[in-house]
Amino acid sequence: MDVVDTIDSTLIPGWVPPELDTTRAHTARIYEYLLGGMHYFDVDREAAETALRHVPQAREILQENRAFLNRATRFLAASGITQFLDLGSGLPGTDNIGDTAREAHPQARIVFVDYDPMVAVHGRALVAAADPTHTAVVEADVRRPAEVLADPELRRVLDLKQPVAIVMNSLLHFIAPEEDPHAMVAEFLAAVPAGSALVVSHITDGGRPVQAEAAVRAWDQATSPMYMRSEKEIRDLFTGTEIIQPGIVPRPLWRPDGEVREDWQEIWGLVGVGIKR
Ligand SMILES: C[S@@+](CC[C@H](N)C(=O)[O-])C[C@H]1O[C@@H](n2cnc3c(N)ncnc32)[C@H](O)[C@@H]1O
Repeated sequence: MDVVDTIDSTLIPGWVPPELDTTRAHTARIYEYLLGGMHYFDVDREAAETALRHVPQAREILQENRAFLNRATRFLAASGITQFLDLGSGLPGTDNIGDTAREAHPQARIVFVDYDPMVAVHGRALVAAADPTHTAVVEADVRRPAEVLADPELRRVLDLKQPVAIVMNSLLHFIAPEEDPHAMVAEFLAAVPAGSALVVSHITDGGRPVQAEAAVRAWDQATSPMYMRSEKEIRDLFTGTEIIQPGIVPRPLWRPDGEVREDWQEIWGLVGVGIKR
């Protein structure tokens, strides 16, 4: 008998909602596979393995991505922010930002938004059901900020007159230039008061454009297109905010809570946190 270290989700009867497209890889499920979770399909695993062939450190990049998100959430919660809008949240797992924020504020409110129906199904069953007063999962497309912001579930949980942390962690590199990610960020920021925060983590080519281009092509074939951006383009996303120390930096260098890994330059991508003026 084979011994496996993860469960093949497709073998669990009844959990796959009928609206789910299991023939095409989805980013949230590729993440789930790479982070050692259980909710993915064969297509997602194949896409993840393809990405790993081009960027062998992809797993470490994702782990550092989540670690940054947790440090940023802890930092903002300690600074007094109690409301979080997690856009492109992926599957809210055991280390979701709700749990992290509630370590500082047991009454913290979190809304997870993703356009992958699996996120809504699992998020509602696993996270929102546990604390429906303070948590909601919204299935929506962040490229339509007005619709997201008007969602009744979001409005039920978040008070947009009070500061909100707008979290876009590894989201914006899935937004095409012609869809104007800068305007999209600005529209979300315009809906919240001064003192609100913007958290961004964005992939870059890590100074290896040829390898990065191959990885982007492989990802595009497997799932949705991905767009690299320059440091300036990433910095410009923070227009209207004050970028807090240490600025726009690679993930492992953002307020590390332990020793910084020696290979931090291999962790492609830049992150930052800004506070709306
Ligand atoms: C790479 S994952 C990041 C997950 C999580 N934020 C993290 O940092 O670990 C990107 C997520 O964004 C979602 N996404 C991509 N484009 C989106 C869109 N236009 N609207 C809503 N969600 C989107 C994907 O479904 C996926 O779950």
